[in-house]
Amino acid sequence: MTRTVKDFIRTIPDFPHEGIMFRDVTTLFADPQGFRMAVDQLVAPFAGQRIDKVVGLEARGFILGGAVAHQLSTGFVPVRKAGKLPGRVIGQDYTLEYGEARVELHDDAIQPGERVLVVDDLLATGGTAEAGIKLIERLGGEIAGCAFVIDLPELGGRDRLEKLGMSLVTLCA
Ligand code: PRP
Ligand code: ADE
Repeated sequence: MTRTVKDFIRTIPDFPHEGIMFRDVTTLFADPQGFRMAVDQLVAPFAGQRIDKVVGLEARGFILGGAVAHQLSTGFVPVRKAGKLPGRVIGQDYTLEYGEARVELHDDAIQPGERVLVVDDLLATGGTAEAGIKLIERLGGEIAGCAFVIDLPELGGRDRLEKLGMSLVTLCA
């Protein structure tokens, strides 16, 4: 039987805290068929659109975003956890399913008017993605879309990003 992207993802209970059902994409990334399928499906809705940059959200968004950027022939820009980027940054605080954090973006990484595709492995509360979107928009970038492998709609991220008017692509729930 043909396997879908979801078939390559495993769920690990109680990681990193009790009660969290952690969706582990390392098994998807490790499989040549699964990884190609996921990247192809993230890219397909944006083929033919003007995309100037792909922004990947730390950390698993780097792996997917790099491959997506290569396939779209765009540059890749990382949104990183606080304190990791060496140049001048802008920062944004946000709340996670299991904690609080701050993400940063180099202040010269996006030019005004550039169309940006945001990529990550998973959409939960949408806090990480919204923080990334705010950073990009503060530099004058326009969000062309947001693409995730996994959607956990019960955590509200989909609604949150749709309320912001985002065009969303997700591959499985
Ligand atoms: C996970 C995931 C997303 C984010 C989604 O990353 O990869 O980036 O959480 O959650 P949200 O929609 O509630 O913001 P995590 O913060 O665990 O960081 P890591 O990838 O660096 O481990
Ligand atoms: N980030 C937030 N919630 C998550 C989950 N359930 N699995 C993997 N990453 C996550």
